[in-house]
Amino acid sequence: MTDSNIDTDVVGGPVRHVPVMLNEALSCLQLTPQNSKSLKIVDGTFGAGGYSSAMVQAGATVMAIDRDPNAIRDGAELVSKLDGKLSLVAGEFRYLDTLAEENDFGQADGVVLDIGVSSMQLDEAERGFSFQKDGPLDMRMSQSGVSAADVVNIMKQSDLTRVIGILGEERRASHVSRAIVREREKMPFSTTLQLASLIEKTLGRRATDKIHPATRTFQALRIFVNQELEQLGEALFAAERLLKAGGRLVVVTFHSLEDRLVKLFFKDRTGGQEGSRHLPLVNHKDATFEIDGKGLLKASKDEAEVNPRSRSAKLRWGERNDHTAGKVDMSIFGLPNLVSLNALQLKGE
Ligand SMILES: C[S@@+](CC[C@H](N)C(=O)[O-])C[C@H]1O[C@@H](n2cnc3c(N)ncnc32)[C@H](O)[C@@H]1O
Repeated sequence: MTDSNIDTDVVGGPVRHVPVMLNEALSCLQLTPQNSKSLKIVDGTFGAGGYSSAMVQAGATVMAIDRDPNAIRDGAELVSKLDGKLSLVAGEFRYLDTLAEENDFGQADGVVLDIGVSSMQLDEAERGFSFQKDGPLDMRMSQSGVSAADVVNIMKQSDLTRVIGILGEERRASHVSRAIVREREKMPFSTTLQLASLIEKTLGRRATDKIHPATRTFQALRIFVNQELEQLGEALFAAERLLKAGGRLVVVTFHSLEDRLVKLFFKDRTGGQEGSRHLPLVNHKDATFEIDGKGLLKASKDEAEVNPRSRSAKLRWGERNDHTAGKVDMSIFGLPNLVSLNALQLKGE
């Protein structure tokens, strides 16, 4: 994912994370050369600043958020380079409206979320996201709280099966959790390769397999440790509160569990209807968003060829209308009822 041959960014260094569907995101946010208005955008997922710097270059003033202290540290150079047009805040995007208020940013013309891990997080072995590199079994974007090692060392086998089965969509979750529980009795888990090789031994690996047998379990642990589905669901409601009438919400996701949440949110907030390319934007009396057609874009063939990561990307967007923000109702997402991260933390202490 990291390509040292790619252009240099605004700061002048090599691009560390190649932004996905950037042009589509800019155009959905109305950051086009034809739009001369100066827009205020919240970038909830700063990462390496690819989106943020492009938005500033397109004329926006940006408040960016990231929960990863490394992203905040490394972004300082870009902030000083962009001369008052970019501010960078450490925090979780579920609080994006509160963070905007605390930082006197005011209402936004756009909110963008580019969900998932950055190439820097995946590439650095010590962050523990990758089953291909040996490092501590960590996976915490914020570098605090319960780690992936805590989860596999503490969680009850039945809960582990649910987490791996539901968040990893691993059909053989019970095999994996049984093997984990047996192994940790001999020696607690501390490294990524310790877990990856156990899963490989347990599930086996055929030459025809497209993915490593540990892929799904690692995905499940990452989503669980970072509470990614809850964070995304709450962020969508926060964006609804923060956006001005006419403002745009743009969300790029990389797997079906996340995309489903965004789809359900827009379905709920447009009054349960999907627009049609041939009809005016949906306008329902309780609706807070309007969408054009399905409000869904995918990466172009050209982008998919040069950046394989973009092949699974889905961009959904909607335009905020002037109705008051609706009630926060996380039940619209039908999130799985899993053991809580806080309960696990208490058990570990
Ligand atoms: C895919 S990267 C974003 C890349 C960015 N668009 C760019 O062009 O460089 C996702 C980033 O979002 C951050 N992130 C993920 N979940 C978050 C959350 N709940 N709150 C704040 N930041 C989050 C991650 O730490 C990571 O840096």
